[in-house]
This record gives sequence, C-alpha cells and structure tokens, in this order.
Amino acid sequence: MSLLELIKARKSVRKYIDKPIPREDILKCIEAARLAPSAENVQPWRFIVLDDPDIKEQFVKETCSGIYRPSSFIKNAAAIVVIVARPDLLANFIGSGIQGTNYYLIDIGIAGEHLVLQAQELGIGTCWIGWFNAKKAKKFFKLSPRRKVVSLIAMGYPASGATKNKKRLPLEEIVFFNRDTGRI
Ligand SMILES: Cc1cc2nc3c(=O)[nH]c(=O)nc-3n(C[C@H](O)[C@H](O)[C@H](O)COP(=O)(O)O)c2cc1C
Repeated sequence: MSLLELIKARKSVRKYIDKPIPREDILKCIEAARLAPSAENVQPWRFIVLDDPDIKEQFVKETCSGIYRPSSFIKNAAAIVVIVARPDLLANFIGSGIQGTNYYLIDIGIAGEHLVLQAQELGIGTCWIGWFNAKKAKKFFKLSPRRKVVSLIAMGYPASGATKNKKRLPLEEIVFFNRDTGRI
C-alpha cells in the first residue's frame, strides 16, 4: 500500500472489538512517533500508554465525565496513549516569545500522526481525543506542573461499521501557487 493509500484508508475509529493490542505493536507505533521531526529536535513528547483495563477505566472515569462525557467511548479502546508535552524547553520559549508559535504543539501533532499512521498499517484503529479534562489527566499521573497533557489517542481494533467518511475541502480551495487570489 502506498503512503497516500494508507492515509486515505485512515479514519477515526470510535467503536472497538474487545481484543488487546500486543505491546510489541503499540511500541512500533510509539517508535514511529519517536522518529518524528521537532523544532530544534527537542522531542518535547512523552507517552503514557494505558493498557491495563482497571487503570484505563479509572482514567476515563476521571477525565471523560461531565462536559467531557462524549469522549467516554474511549473506555472501550484496547489502549489509550496519553501524550504529555514538555513545553518549557528552550525552542518553545523562542518559538512562542519571538514567533508567537507554540512549536511543541506542532511537534506533538506530527509525532501523534506518525503513531496513528503506523497503527493504521497494523490494522489498529485510532482516534485523536482533544476533548478531555487535561487538568485531571495531569493530576491522575501526578505530573509536574511544568508538563502539559496535550492529547489522547485511543487505539483499538475497529468494530464493523466503526468509521464514517468525513469530507475534506477540495484541493482547489486550499492550495494557492505563488499568490493569494483573495480566497485564503
Ligand atoms: C487534535 C484533534 C483532536 C480531536 N479530538 C477529538 C475528540 O475529542 N473526540 C472525537 O471523537 N474525535 C476527535 N478528533 C477526531 C476528529 O473529529 C476527526 O479527525 C475529524 O472529524 C475527521 O474525521 P476522520 O479522522 O475520520 O477523517 C480529533 C482530531 C484531532 C486531530
């Protein structure tokens, strides 16, 4: 399968069969994330993998309740990857101070998507989760105040009918060669 075919095949998966993912495969996905580029190569990511059913359930109870309840479907995922950032690294101070860009969020987006695409190749469905109680997630692991829980990625083998086709804007609406024609 070409890279583009793999990218086309990936869809967010929110329904999973009850089957654990071998740690070896989870680690392969994290390896793909580990190799991602990052501003100044600071690699501001750390990954906490929840694959113990009791800990996973407790985590979801804490972080996906109240207004975050729509994300509670991740309790059925075989594993949840908690992506923790270290935003206090020098590249990020320069990035946010001078450029006004939080590079660590870009870095984590790239690393996370590497993970997701590797999972896709292994037949593992994923769903990025940005809607969760990040403060409670931080507390759950007793993380330093200097760390930030940026996102979760739920992982599991897809149940049948687990995906929907989401439309994308056509190329001509999003790409511009050489100038802004007033449509950006
Ligand atoms: C940073 C980010 C955060 C997201 N947060 C959530 C979320 O909290 N809950 C959810 O169900 N999907 C979440 N998604 C998945 C998007 O809804 C999904 O990628 C989008 O609708 C396109 O659908 P597709 O992934 O199936 O192509 C998130 C995706 C990204 C990239």
